[in-house]
Amino acid sequence: MKVDVKSLIQEGAALTDQALEELIPALGTVPASIHGAMRHSTFAGGKRLRPVLAMQAGITLAGALPAGIERLGAALEMLHTYSLIHDDLPALDNDDLRRGKPTCHVAFGEAIAILAGDALQTRAFEVLAGLDAPPAATVQIIGLIANAVGTVEGMIGGQVLDIESEHQKPTAELVEAIHRAKTGALIRVSVVAGGVYAGASAEDVARLDTFGRKAGLAFQIADDVLDMTADSATLGKTAGKDLATEKATWPAVFGIEQSERDAARLIEEAFAALEPYGSRADGLKAVARYLVERKN
Ligand code: IPE
Ligand code: IPE
Ligand code: MG
Ligand code: MG
Ligand code: MG
Repeated sequence: MKVDVKSLIQEGAALTDQALEELIPALGTVPASIHGAMRHSTFAGGKRLRPVLAMQAGITLAGALPAGIERLGAALEMLHTYSLIHDDLPALDNDDLRRGKPTCHVAFGEAIAILAGDALQTRAFEVLAGLDAPPAATVQIIGLIANAVGTVEGMIGGQVLDIESEHQKPTAELVEAIHRAKTGALIRVSVVAGGVYAGASAEDVARLDTFGRKAGLAFQIADDVLDMTADSATLGKTAGKDLATEKATWPAVFGIEQSERDAARLIEEAFAALEPYGSRADGLKAVARYLVERKN
């Protein structure tokens, strides 16, 4: 079956946006500055790929979109947005453009930006605690996501490695470790959590985990390539930044062409894990392909 991936992503993004609108305190809620900052970064125009992956994993398992899964998607997007706000801070990547808008610290100052990131993280876990899933599944999802955001092979650990590896010649092993952790972990857990929300067995979780690991690594390889090949207007963030700061990237080790091939190959390899689900995984596969074929 041919999937219209653009509409599928648009529909998932719209559901996510609606949930985020309800779940993030309204503008003007006291203290107003932080809610303004949280909303500024959340509604700046992200692709909502992690929520869409969770939704498609849910469809792969359940055959239809599980009711209420957009709240899981919204929590994942809050965590991702928090990671972007902190990634852009002067102490980390020092960026002034994100999602086509001034970064959070440029618009609201560093103190409020740091706190807005913190607040999106805690709000995300509050939302997860209230998911409309069996208690055991909810607890499993919270544990998996907290682990994926954490320091051991998780997002924060990956960010530490990323920052500490600037200005040195990276090895393939180092870049793979950075990418799996800083970006891959949240992508992987988005897929797995979507599956758990839809009632995944331990076997299902293992399959989704294998798929998500490969897709997550491929996603960051594509991000590295886009940093070198696209312009800032298309990306909505500063292009060419990785070379300027001598970041440990996939193209820095393998070159651009090999990186493109590696990303495409990882996606094809990832598909093998979804074979038992037949055509129910078509949407998930289409989104995975989009992760590496996207232009921004
Ligand atoms: C960008 O992620 C940051 C990385 C983890 C590489 P996305 O490309 O998903 O960014 P948005 O959410 O669409 O802005
Ligand atoms: C960011 O990686 C990963 C996280 C935000 C955790 P990058 O630093 O490459 O992301 P961009 O390119 O600024 O979006
Ligand atoms: Mg970074
Ligand atoms: Mg960055
Ligand atoms: Mg990047």
